[in-house]
Amino acid sequence: MKKKYYIETFGCQMNVHDSEKMAGIMKADGMSETLNPEDADILIFNTCSIREKAEQKFFSSLGRLRHLKKSNPALKIAVTGCIAQQEGAKILKRTPYVDYVIGPQNIHVLKDLDSIQIHSVACNDNPLIAATDYPVDRKDGIKAWVTIMYGCDNYCSYCVVPYTRGREISRPREKIIEEVEKLAQDGFKEITFLGQNVNSYKSDLDFPGLLNKANGIPGIERIRFVTSHPKDLSKELICSIRDLEKVCEHIHLPLQSGSSRILRLMNRKYSYEEYLDKILGLRDAVPGISITTDIIAGFPGESAEDHEATVNAIKEISFDGMFAFKYSHRPGTYASGFEDHLGDKIKSDRLYEIIDIQNQITENRNRSLYGSTQQILIESFVEAREGRQYQGRTRTNKIVNCTQSTPPAVAFIIGDLADVNITNTARHSLAGIIK
Ligand code: 5AD
Ligand code: SF4
Repeated sequence: MKKKYYIETFGCQMNVHDSEKMAGIMKADGMSETLNPEDADILIFNTCSIREKAEQKFFSSLGRLRHLKKSNPALKIAVTGCIAQQEGAKILKRTPYVDYVIGPQNIHVLKDLDSIQIHSVACNDNPLIAATDYPVDRKDGIKAWVTIMYGCDNYCSYCVVPYTRGREISRPREKIIEEVEKLAQDGFKEITFLGQNVNSYKSDLDFPGLLNKANGIPGIERIRFVTSHPKDLSKELICSIRDLEKVCEHIHLPLQSGSSRILRLMNRKYSYEEYLDKILGLRDAVPGISITTDIIAGFPGESAEDHEATVNAIKEISFDGMFAFKYSHRPGTYASGFEDHLGDKIKSDRLYEIIDIQNQITENRNRSLYGSTQQILIESFVEAREGRQYQGRTRTNKIVNCTQSTPPAVAFIIGDLADVNITNTARHSLAGIIK
């Protein structure tokens, strides 16, 4: 009987994609996936440590499933991802029922489970990671993530990523292009280049050069990328978004704070004015581009004026969407040593104020698309009494729910591109009729 694995994933797209790689590695070893932890021979927790809350979520999930070892003593538990890398052997002390601790650069050890020693820790630096081709078990058949670089060298003062994912290293471009060509042959339509700091990609090509190569691959219709750092947003990249027809008009560009003083303390390497300049450049070159961001509320020492500067920045820039977080103390980071940490109440108040303001802005920006025509890539559909209901995303990454005009000329299928007339807008999605 084939051995079965169950994977629970926490955190960002990088982790979701790492889980696809781990699944690929174990499938290549003759195992199969189960969605029921009770049927599994191994439970894998692919963890995130970006904020305290993500860590707590993992530990409570682990606590909830540990009893399965009682009914199945052969069951193995592996902790992978950022908590594994950060905590290493400490996890085995805290939760001795864990069998393996495997950092993000060591997932290759899963290729032969029987050879891994119980209670072992695999968290070494792996300089070969960028040159390694991992088998990937993708769940989606239309949209694919493609890693173009690993790690982060930026050391933003609040962030654990440089400690959990190691030094920045780019994959050779031949490997990336080969992977995208294969995806195109397999029927994928959209690729998202992944990197902690995706626009600092460097091989024999820079990031705009890589986009240019990918743009020439037949069959791929859309190219996206996350996450960009403002300091590496070059004029050339803006021109690539403007000129390359497959590169979508959306950029996720974390601002973090609207106060240049706080940005300095965060070690972000740009001022608010420099950030704004880049936004103006983007909007000038690519009218209608959608810009989303991340904001941290209540960084240590953030004064009422600093917070006000963030509020003003959010209003001035008018983002299409935003992820906002309360500052979370991360042991080992530079900012954890700062003295003036704020209390939870003030952090929450600032967070909710920011979210409220942005919600209104998001709604207004979506409303401005009323009556426009948007191209969507169809990702799913359901049969309803009134006909097929489709869901897809615009090139600007907004969700659209739509139907066909009656009677439909041809039914669309998943992976088709369709032009939609937008007839309704809300905060989280648009609605319309396929033309
Ligand atoms: N506290 C709160 N938010 C954080 N982020 C990263 N580290 C922290 C932290 N210590 C946020 C940043 C980043 C996003 C992925 O997570 O906004 O862009
Ligand atoms: Fe963390 Fe900054 Fe690197 Fe992003 S760029 S992963 S916030 S250190």
